Amino acid sequence: MKRTIVAIACAIGCFCVGNAHNVNSQLPQKREKKEVKVGDSETKFVHELMQKMTLTEKIGQLSQYVGGTLLTGPQSGALSDSLFIRGMVGSILNVGGVDNLRKLQEKNMQLSRLKIPILFAFDVIHGYKTIFPTPLAESCTWDLDFMYETSKAAAIEASASGIHWTFAPMVDIARDPRWGRIVEGAGEDTYLACKIAEARVRGFQWNLGKPNSVYACAKHFVAYGAPQAGRDYAPVDISMSTLAEVYLPPFKACVDAGVKTFMSAFNSLNGVPATGNRWLMTNLLRNQWKFQGFVVSDWNAVQELKDHGVAATDEEASLLAFNAGVDMNMTDGLYNRCLEKALREGRVDIKAIDASVERILRAKYALGLFEDPYRFFDSKRERTEVRSNSAMTLARKVAASSMVLLKNSQSTLPLSKHTNRIALIGPLVNNRSEVMGSWKARGEDKDVVTVLEGIKNKLGSAVAINYVQGCDFLDPSTQEFSKAFEAAKQSDVVIAVVGEKALMSGESRSRAVLRLPGQQEALLDTLQKAGKPLVVVLMNGRPLCLEKVDKQADALLEAWFPGTQCGNAVADILFGDAVPAGKLTTSFPLSEGQIPNYYNYKRSGRPGDMPHSSTVRHIDVPNRNLYPFGYGLSYTKFSYGEIQCANEFNVDGTLQISVDVTNTGGYDGEEIVQLYVADKHASMVRPVKELKGFKKVFIPKGETVRVDFTLNARDLGFWNNEMQYVVEPGIFEIMVGSSSEDLQKKEAIWKGDK
Ligand code: BGC
Repeated sequence: MKRTIVAIACAIGCFCVGNAHNVNSQLPQKREKKEVKVGDSETKFVHELMQKMTLTEKIGQLSQYVGGTLLTGPQSGALSDSLFIRGMVGSILNVGGVDNLRKLQEKNMQLSRLKIPILFAFDVIHGYKTIFPTPLAESCTWDLDFMYETSKAAAIEASASGIHWTFAPMVDIARDPRWGRIVEGAGEDTYLACKIAEARVRGFQWNLGKPNSVYACAKHFVAYGAPQAGRDYAPVDISMSTLAEVYLPPFKACVDAGVKTFMSAFNSLNGVPATGNRWLMTNLLRNQWKFQGFVVSDWNAVQELKDHGVAATDEEASLLAFNAGVDMNMTDGLYNRCLEKALREGRVDIKAIDASVERILRAKYALGLFEDPYRFFDSKRERTEVRSNSAMTLARKVAASSMVLLKNSQSTLPLSKHTNRIALIGPLVNNRSEVMGSWKARGEDKDVVTVLEGIKNKLGSAVAINYVQGCDFLDPSTQEFSKAFEAAKQSDVVIAVVGEKALMSGESRSRAVLRLPGQQEALLDTLQKAGKPLVVVLMNGRPLCLEKVDKQADALLEAWFPGTQCGNAVADILFGDAVPAGKLTTSFPLSEGQIPNYYNYKRSGRPGDMPHSSTVRHIDVPNRNLYPFGYGLSYTKFSYGEIQCANEFNVDGTLQISVDVTNTGGYDGEEIVQLYVADKHASMVRPVKELKGFKKVFIPKGETVRVDFTLNARDLGFWNNEMQYVVEPGIFEIMVGSSSEDLQKKEAIWKGDK
C-alpha cells in the first residue's frame, strides 16, 4: 500500500457508491436549476411558448416517431395525422431527403395548433451519401483531423438533405469482438476513444445553429459495449471503478466537447436498465457533469423496461424512464400515452416535464427552426452538396489511411503496376453493397467503386485481370473453386478479397465464431495451391480469428469496410500510391476462447509469462493476440532511438518524454508513435500498461523526426473502490514504441505534490 493517496477532481467528476444504490428510485425528484439568462430572447420566446402549451402538447414535444419505412428496431408506435393534429410529435427519425422532410414539416405546420417545428433525426454514423469507412476502421487512422473532417462532411451532406440531428458518435468502448457493434466505435482503448469522441462531436457540430451542421448524440449511455458473452443487449455487470475508468470517460469527453444530446443504452448496468437509471442520467450526467442538452431513449427502450422486469405496466415504464432523466421517448409512444395520467395522479412533477420540454424547445430555437421551419430544406444545396467531389476525395484518403497492413512477407506489397496478369478472386471483389458496412445511411450502391473497378481505374487496360467470385459468404458451394484455381495459376499474382457481409457486424449481429465465414478459408487454401504470391484483402466489421489466413497469405491487408471509395482506396494501397499507416485499435485474438483479450488487462499474482504452469493462461492457446493493439506495418521501416526522459517527474507533476524516430526504409511514410504508462506499485491492481499519448508523424525516407510528449502525473490516477479518483506517488514505467507489444521502457518516479 502506498504512503500517500492524493484525491483530486478529475474528468469524470466525483460520485459515490451511495448514489449508485439509489439508482432505481421511482420518486419524482427535483431537477437541477437551469442556468437561464433573464432577458435572453431564446428564454423569453421559449417561456412564452410554453405558457400557451397544453399538457398534451408539452408531452408531445418529448415524443419521437419513425417517419417512414426504415425500421432500425422492432415495429413501433405509428405516426398518424391525429398525432400531428394534437401536437404530439416533437421529433421524427429515419427519414431523409429535402422533399420527404418538407412534406412532413408542412403537414405538422398545417395540422398542429401551435406549429412547433419538428426536429428530424437520422443515423448518420459514417457518412450520409458519401460513405466513409466504418468508425472502427476510421479509428485505425489515429488521425483526429480525419475524424473531424469526415464528421463535418457527413454533417454537411445530412443537413443539406434536411437532417437536424445525428445519432452519433457511438462512444461505447468495446473489448469483445463478438459484439457486433464493435464496428460502430473507436475500439478498445479509452484514452484514444476520448480523443476520437471529441473530434467527432466537434465535426458534426462544426457550425452549430447553422443549416450546414447537425446536433451530435453521445450514445449509448453507458457500458453497452460490455454485454455478457458479447451478445448484443445482454446485461452488463462491471465494477464501478471499471465503469468510471473505462466506460464513462468517452461520454464525459463528449460533454466537454459540447455535445447537444445523449442517448440512453438498452442494457442493464449492474441490475439497473440504463433507460431507468436516475443515478446515471440525473445525478451524474446532469448534476455532476452539468450536461445542458437533452437525453433521448433508444428505440423502444422505454417500453422494454417491462421486458427487463423492472416495470409491470407501460405507465410504470414511462415513469421510470422519465424520472430517471430521459427527456425524449424514441418510437414506442409511451410518454404520449402515459405521462399525462401520471401527472394527474401526482406521480410525475410538472416542473420536471417543463424542464424537459424547455430543453427540446431550446434545441429547436437554436437551430432557427421557429424563425423558419424549412430552413434546412434547400433543394439546390441538396443537389450540390450531397456527394460532392471534396467529400469523395476525403473518403478515398481516409479509407486508404484506415487500412492496416497485417503481414507483408518478402515485401509482396506494394504490387508493380506493370504486373502482366492478376487474378482477382472472392465475394467482395465486385460487390457494391457489402463494402459500405452496416449503418450506411442513404449510401447507394451505384456510387460505390468496387475493388475490380478501382484496380482497373489504376492499371488501365495494359494488365489482364481475371476475376472469379470463387464462393459466396455463407453458401456452402465450392463449385467455382476450380475456375478460381485456374485463374490463379495463369496469373503473376493473386488478390483475394474476402471477409464478412456488412450485416454480420452491427446491431444485433454478434458472432460466436470469428473465423472467415462459409467457404472462404477453403477458397484461400485452393488459391495457395496455385503457388503464386497471394495477397489477401480483408473486409470485415470486427477483429476476426485469422491464424489460418495469416499462414495462407503472403500479404494480408485489413481493409475493413472502406465505404463509397472502396476500390480506389484498396488500389491506392495495393499499388503503392498510398503507403499503409493504419494501426489496430482492437486486439485480434488467436481464438474465440481468449476473448476478452484486450491489451490493458490488469496484472495478476501469477502472471501468464512465468515459466511454471500455474499461471494466468489456457493450456491449449497462448495468451498473446495474433495482432496486438496498436500494431500495423508500413511499406517502409521505422527505427526508434532511446527514450529520453528524466528519472523524476518535475515538481509541477509533468514529465517530458522524447524519442527520435528514423525512416530507414525505401518509402516516405507515416508512423503512429505510441506512449504507454504502467504504475509499478499502487494500492489497487493496475493494468499492465495504458495508452497515455500518441502522435502520427510523417517521416520522409532517410530522415529522423523527434517526437515529444508531456505526461502529467495527474492523468495517471485511477478510481478506487470508494469511488475516489486517486493519484499515487511512486514509480511509473514509461513505454514508447510502434505498438502495444513493441515498446522500450524507462522508469520515472513521481514524488507527489510537495
Ligand atoms: C440503435 C441506435 C439507433 C436507433 C435509431 C437503435 O436500434 O441502438 O443506435 O440510433 O436505433 O435508429
